[in-house]
Amino acid sequence: MSEDRLELEKLTKKIDQLNEQLLHSEKLASLGQLAAGVAHEINNPIGYVASNLVSLKEYIDSLMMLITQLCNQLPVEQTNRLKQLYDHDYISKDLPILMSQSESGLQRVIEIIRELKDFSHIDDVEFTEVDIHLGIHSTLNILANELKYKAEVKKVLGNIPKIKCVASQVNQVVLNLILNAAQAFTSFGTITISTGCNDSWVWICVDDNGPGIEQEKLETIFQPFYTTKDTGTGLGLALSRSILEKHAGIIEVKSSLGKGSCFTVKLPINHPSCS
Ligand SMILES: Nc1ncnc2c1ncn2[C@@H]1O[C@H](COP(=O)(O)OP(=O)(O)OP(=O)(O)O)[C@@H](O)[C@H]1O
Ligand SMILES: [Mg+2]
Repeated sequence: MSEDRLELEKLTKKIDQLNEQLLHSEKLASLGQLAAGVAHEINNPIGYVASNLVSLKEYIDSLMMLITQLCNQLPVEQTNRLKQLYDHDYISKDLPILMSQSESGLQRVIEIIRELKDFSHIDDVEFTEVDIHLGIHSTLNILANELKYKAEVKKVLGNIPKIKCVASQVNQVVLNLILNAAQAFTSFGTITISTGCNDSWVWICVDDNGPGIEQEKLETIFQPFYTTKDTGTGLGLALSRSILEKHAGIIEVKSSLGKGSCFTVKLPINHPSCS
């Protein structure tokens, strides 16, 4: 009888673990898919807007030349009257400004699409050699809007080697940690992201000067569904820890109430090539 109960307990625990893993992978997959889907959908229209803009620029140049030449055929007073009527001077000054603003806006959108693709790495299912700093940059670009009224971000990036990992998953961990830091602030704060390494590990540290976490909660926060937020799922840190376990890595936290929190992610390097 007690053996049956033991077996039942073991099975229940296994089901709980599997449920947890399923939720984690669903959340991860949907975020990656969303990012890749958005990037793909925007890519097509942006392609023709970019090519139209090049033609538009040439057409405008031709039309302006035509206007100048036509004006030369007319008496000066008539030219001046027509130019005034159609705001010629203002338009010919404003047009190049509008064109160059549109071009740089478009460049920014193209950049964001590239970041989204880098971030989602939707095709990656394998461990590959990854430059962790690229992931940090693209994650920060994605979060730029979210962060701008909440925190200043400082980067103290060390000289670290590439490491073998699933880029999209490590990006996901960094995103969770930065978002948590930003969401913890009650007023404008500072998030410091630093990286470094020794012979065995590459580490990424996300440090904030927010309200901090009570010492007795430092383990609880990693439990699935533990959240203190109205709209939180409480999966961010649980997911991050399970990603790191898959990478033979670890996540550590230090916190001090009223001073802030520091989450450190350590990923193993199998080739000690740090200097
Ligand atoms: N930097 C931090 N400062 C203060 N508290 C934090 C910090 N990071 C995490 N926490 C606490 O840990 C809890 C769990 O975080 P976790 O990321 O797992 O879930 P969440 O942020 O609440 O929801 P979500 O699933 O949307 O990430 C948070 O609700 C918060 O109370
Ligand atoms: Mg979170």
